[in-house]
Parts: sequence; C-alpha cells; structure tokens
Amino acid sequence: MRIFSGIQPTGRKHLGNYIGAITHYVAGQDLGESIYCVVDLHATTVAYDPAALRESSYDTAATLLAAGLEPDRCIFFRQSDVAEQTELCWLLSGVAAFGELGRMTQFKDKSASQRDLVSAGLFFYPVLMAADVLAYRSTDVPVGDDQRQHVELMRDIAQRFNARFGETLVVPEGRYPAVGARIMDLQFPERKMSTTGTSPQGTVYVLDEPDVVAKKIRSAVTDSGAEVVRAPDKPGVSNLIEILAAVRGTDLEAVEHEFDSSGYGEIGRASCRERV
Ligand code: TRP
Repeated sequence: MRIFSGIQPTGRKHLGNYIGAITHYVAGQDLGESIYCVVDLHATTVAYDPAALRESSYDTAATLLAAGLEPDRCIFFRQSDVAEQTELCWLLSGVAAFGELGRMTQFKDKSASQRDLVSAGLFFYPVLMAADVLAYRSTDVPVGDDQRQHVELMRDIAQRFNARFGETLVVPEGRYPAVGARIMDLQFPERKMSTTGTSPQGTVYVLDEPDVVAKKIRSAVTDSGAEVVRAPDKPGVSNLIEILAAVRGTDLEAVEHEFDSSGYGEIGRASCRERV
C-alpha cells in the first residue's frame, strides 16, 4: 500500500481537520509507505499573500509533526519543491475534460465566493490534485468526504490516460473515515466546522489551550430532549457523539450506550475530560 494525501496550508487547523485527516495520516505510517504533502500550490488558486503563504506552510508542517508524523517513517514535503508534480499536471490536462472540471462542486462553491477574480487555477485545482497522487503511483488516498468527487475524477483521469497511452498510472482508491468525517461547528451544528465563515466559539483549534477547548465544548449547543442518541433533529448532540467516538477510537453506538441514562451534561463533561 502506498498512501498519499495533501493538506492545505491555509487557515488554522481545527478539530475537524484533526479528526478527519491528521490522525489518519499519523496512523497511515504504520499501514504502508506514506507520502504527505503540504499543498502550497493549491493555495495559490485563491487570493493569497506570498509571505503569509510561506509562513502558513511552515505552521502546517509544524502542526503535522507535532501530531505525530515522523520524517523517518514517512515522506513529508512541500508541493512546490517537487516541480515534476506540476509538470505532470500539464500532461494530465490533455485527458481531463473541460466539462467535468466545470461540474466539480468545490469549484462551483469557491468560484461563487470569489469577489474579484475566478482564477483558471481554481478550475484546474482537481488536475493538480490528480497529479499529486498519480506522480507517486499511490494506491490509497485518505481524504475527507468533501473530496470524493475529486478522487473520482483523478481515477477517471488515470484510466483515460492508461487507455490512451498504455498502463502507466496506478488508479488509486479514496479512503474516507467512517467516524468523524463530518465534525460540525459546536455553535451551529448544521454547518461543518471550518476556519472561515463559522463562529470562533464553535471552532476548536488544535493550538487552543486546554481550558479554552474545555470551555468551547462545555458551551456547545445541544438540542431539545435529553436522550444521547444520533438523530436528524439532534445535530448538536449527534456531533458530540461523533467527536467523543472519534477521539476515543470507539464506535458511535458505544458512546450512545454509555450515556443512555445520563443526559446531555454528562457527555459534555466526558468530552472535556478526554481533552479533545
Ligand atoms: N484538495 C484537498 C483538500 O482540500 C487537498 C489535496 C491536494 C489533496 N492534493 C491532494 C488531498 C492529493 C489528497 C491527495 O483537502
């Protein structure tokens, strides 16, 4: 197995990134060869400041090292340091269809939110992502659920390339976390936890001090009723169940069962104790 994943150097990393991606990168080091990349070139597809991007690339690298990536057990590098990835991106562009790039939901969402300029880079983003993975003949791509469409596209690109030029590229599989794929904002649990556009109180940053984390968890919104179960009309409690199961490495049912008779207060307190 050869694992490849890329992480954006933008924004401060939060609990959603940590549970959904970073812990899987660390675990991947024991599963096979693993290759991780700080994708600074992807960050140039929206407005950016070069000096700030350099800094946040270092910050992101430091966060991943602190979380447990070990340079002697994985390959860990910055995307722009390997020019061949960008070169492969161009070669793949000949088998990437214009129409399918325009159908990418991330492109549609991100281009709608750009004020001055929708860059061609934003449109091309998934081709560069395909090149990242395909350059190394990677077999497994651990990513969040929101990257499914991009992974399907890179598989199509690899298959089309192979059909045209002979078996050259490995068609990779996406790996999506079963638990913790969608960590929601603690204040607005119907929205994903994210660095942009949500509440600072509802977002737990990996660099928050422990007492700040505890306070945010303690003030997480819950729902009406008292039963600790996952349900569509209980987004707040469902989120806490998801978070606790993910940090403990247990399944969701085990958490529901444990808090059967104790109610909302207790799951909040337990989540604080676990030092999420
Ligand atoms: N697009 C990915 C994200 O936003 C980041 C990324 C870039 C990536 N290149 C990749 C992920 C290659 C996996 C493999 O999360």
